[in-house]
Amino acid sequence: MARKIITLDMIRANTEFRKLIDCANTNLEYMGYTEHGLRHVGYVSKTTANILAELDYNERTVELGAIAGWIHDIGNSINRKHHGLTGATLAYDALSRMHMDVSEIALIIGAIGNHEEENGLPVNPISAALIIADKSDAHRSRVRKKTYNAEDIHDRVNMAIKKNYLVVDKVKRKIRLVIFMDDISSTMDYMQIYLTRIMLCEKAAEFLGCVFELMINGMIINRQKKIAAEPALSASEKEVSEE
Ligand SMILES: [Fe+2]
Ligand SMILES: [Fe+2]
Repeated sequence: MARKIITLDMIRANTEFRKLIDCANTNLEYMGYTEHGLRHVGYVSKTTANILAELDYNERTVELGAIAGWIHDIGNSINRKHHGLTGATLAYDALSRMHMDVSEIALIIGAIGNHEEENGLPVNPISAALIIADKSDAHRSRVRKKTYNAEDIHDRVNMAIKKNYLVVDKVKRKIRLVIFMDDISSTMDYMQIYLTRIMLCEKAAEFLGCVFELMINGMIINRQKKIAAEPALSASEKEVSEE
């Protein structure tokens, strides 16, 4: 059977993928995880494609990025643990049955199989863009309203994030994740969950020939260009540490 050009529209219309995404989202809901359904995969699909397009990758690479983003979390239909690896295996089987070109499938499964920080590293441009898109999706819209628990750090951090967006500067080769959070949570809470994910984003940006900056509430917290001047003590403050 001749190989076919598989488009994002075909993947989005595919009921097999749709059911696996729904199942993955339901499984994660039972386990207490934030939203991983059509909203999340839709965001990751579009954002992966946007990163690649902005960095001037060709149209087909951009579309493969969008496809990888749509199906990157289907492994959660099996188990949260190693879901990148199981998801890549599921994707290989399903995409083969759609007669996608195997060299294109290889790029997609490499991206899916490497999107988690436990065992992933950027291995191709689609993989690098997918990592950044996926890890940038922290926002209050991901909190499940029915089960919101302020004691849970993931719920608290996501609920605190009122606004988040990614900026790509292809001239300065910079990818910046901008986050605004309110005082339900804190940068410290965010970093407790996201430290290893942000480190993976730094590697992913480097793979794309860029630097990655994380800005929370107006402060770049992972890359200081210059040391800020020491803040002056206010009238009620006294330095108590000894030399
Ligand atoms: Fe994932
Ligand atoms: Fe994800």
